[in-house]
Amino acid sequence: MPQTPAAPASSDLSGRALFPHRHLLSIADLKPWEIRFLLDEAEQWARANRGHARKHDDRLAGMTQINAFFENSTRTLLSFEIAGKRLGADVVNMAAATSSVKKGETLIDTAMTLNAMSADVIVIRHASSGAVALIADKVDCPVLNAGDGWHQHPTQALLDALTIRRRKGGFEGLVVAICGDVLHSRVARSNMLCLAALGAQVRAVAPPTLMPPQVEMLGATPFTRMDEGLEGADVVMMLRLQNERMDGAFIPSAREYHRLYGLTPERLAIAKPDALVMHPGPMNRGVEISSTVADHPDRSAITEQVEMGVAIRMACLDVLTRAARGVEGWA
Ligand code: NCD
Repeated sequence: MPQTPAAPASSDLSGRALFPHRHLLSIADLKPWEIRFLLDEAEQWARANRGHARKHDDRLAGMTQINAFFENSTRTLLSFEIAGKRLGADVVNMAAATSSVKKGETLIDTAMTLNAMSADVIVIRHASSGAVALIADKVDCPVLNAGDGWHQHPTQALLDALTIRRRKGGFEGLVVAICGDVLHSRVARSNMLCLAALGAQVRAVAPPTLMPPQVEMLGATPFTRMDEGLEGADVVMMLRLQNERMDGAFIPSAREYHRLYGLTPERLAIAKPDALVMHPGPMNRGVEISSTVADHPDRSAITEQVEMGVAIRMACLDVLTRAARGVEGWA
């Protein structure tokens, strides 16, 4: 089981110095060693989750975790719920569809309500970029960003990094192609920052209409031709076309998009022979990825990504609540 990390031999750093953050809002806030620290913590949970039928650890017993999801989610919500429960927290889910948000309550009033219930940690997903940071500013407990608009999805990037590290052994010099609707993707924004910080060579591969301006600022090299972007890639990460965030037509048709940018077995052959295939889900089979590739027993890491999601979220919930729990070196 993860314990308070031992201080590095070469210095007198306390645990807190390894992760001096109250909230987890953006990968941009994290230094490379802070990312590595969270990956190491999660690695221990990944092993524990696989190894035992009884997965409970009660370090968050008596604490209340509120998952406030103002946008749809399957795996992120479920894995935050499982992660909190495995750590012994009382986990409460607030679904926006049935909440007073639908009655016109402002975001700040919702935040104040969550705060008044003495939550010990709040996990938030919201359709507006920056909304999670706004709430974090108003509440008295740590806040984890489970996705805000096009902006950030830090735990997704961390779980992707953990999956890559387990499969490829490290990041230095690794070529990672992030392909598809990069423009509307918070997953891509978090991943570009995270993987570049860890030493990978990151490529953003997208049609010109779906390429964010100044993608280089996020640590990626842009490619508008799929075949060029895939050449020599060690990891191919596919993204869904995020139609719900599109205002107008960005592609001629789903069929044409699949022909030019879909990951088929033929196209995957352009990447390295052992290239890993990833997708954050939900997948649109036959659009950005073919079923043969998505279900490939050795090359696809898609279910492992889901598995690592629970481990990463356990690590983040544990680390962010250490100060409140008075863990030595963190209080
Ligand atoms: C993504 C999201 O919601 O940002 N999914 C996820 O969290 N696993 C990607 C998407 O919606 O396409």
